[in-house]
Amino acid sequence: MTAGRLMGRSCVVTGAASGIGRAIAVRLAADGARVAVVDLDDEGAWRVAAQIIADGGEAEAYECNVSDRAAVRTTLEAIVDGSGGLDVIFNNAGIAEIRPFMEVEEEHWDRLMQVNGLGVLICMQEAGRIMIEQGRGGKMINTASIAGKEGYEIQPHYSATKFSVVALTQAGARAFATHGITVNAICPGIVVTELWDGLEEDFMRFGITERPGEGMERFSERILLGRTASPEDIAGPAAFLASTDSDYITGQSLMVDGGMVLQ
Ligand SMILES: NC(=O)c1ccc[n+]([C@@H]2O[C@H](COP(=O)([O-])OP(=O)(O)OC[C@H]3O[C@@H](n4cnc5c(N)ncnc54)[C@H](O)[C@@H]3O)[C@@H](O)[C@H]2O)c1
Repeated sequence: MTAGRLMGRSCVVTGAASGIGRAIAVRLAADGARVAVVDLDDEGAWRVAAQIIADGGEAEAYECNVSDRAAVRTTLEAIVDGSGGLDVIFNNAGIAEIRPFMEVEEEHWDRLMQVNGLGVLICMQEAGRIMIEQGRGGKMINTASIAGKEGYEIQPHYSATKFSVVALTQAGARAFATHGITVNAICPGIVVTELWDGLEEDFMRFGITERPGEGMERFSERILLGRTASPEDIAGPAAFLASTDSDYITGQSLMVDGGMVLQ
C-alpha cells in the first residue's frame, strides 16, 4: 500500500515538463505530495501541473534554468514560501547527445556539463541550504544513468557528466548526513522519452544508424528483461526513494535499467 505515503511532503522535480521528470511528478502527486514542477519549458511545466491538479493532486509550475544559481535560489524560495518548506528534491533535468569520441570539442563538453553536472551541483547546494535551515532533514535524488556507470564511446562527454552525478551523490551524502539529509541517485537505462528523438537524429548524422529507432534498438539489445523502459518504470523506484521507506539508504546509485549494468 503506497497511496498517501508522501502526504503533505513538499517535493521539487526539475526537468518535469517531459519524460522521466513528468512521470515522477505525477507519481509523487498521486502518492500525496505537493509537487513543484520545475523546467526551462514554462508551458510544458504548466501542462504537467494542470494534469496533476485535474487528477486531484497538488502542483505548481516554475520556469527555471537549473544552471543559473540566482534563478534556482529564487525558485526554491518561492516554492518554500508557497508550500511551507522543502522535503524532497529530484535533480532530474538533463540533456544528452550522441557524438563519437574524437568529435567531442570543448563546446560540446561544456554544453552538457553545464546542465547535467553544474545544474545538479547548484540545485543540491541551494536545496541543501534550505533543508539545513529548516532543520528537519530531507531527501535529494539525482538522475544519473547507466552512462554514469559505464563510459560509452559514442557518448564520452555525456558519460562524463553522469559519472559526475554519481560523484556528487556520494559527496553530497557525506556532506549532508549530519543534517539528516539523504542523497541518492537513480540510474535509468533506455527510457522512451522525447530525449531519444534528438539522439536518433545524432546517430544518423554521424552515420552510425540509417533510420529513426535503430539507435534505441541497438542500445537495447543487452537489456535482460527484454524491453525498454517507460518513464513510469522509473517513477516507482523514485517514489520509494522519496518516501520514509528509504530512510536508511544514502550515497547509493540505484540501477533502474531492466538489467543492463549488473553491480
Ligand atoms: N531517456 C533515457 O533513456 C535516459 C536514460 C538515462 C538517464 N536519463 C536522464 O534522465 C533525465 C530526464 O531525461 P528524459 O529522458 O526525461 O528527457 P526529456 O528531454 O524528455 O526531459 C528533460 C527535461 O529537462 C528539461 N531541461 C533541460 N535543460 C534544462 C535546464 N537547464 N533547466 C531546467 N530544465 C531543463 C527539458 O526542458 C525537459 O523538459 C536526464 O537527466 C537524462 O540524462 C534519460
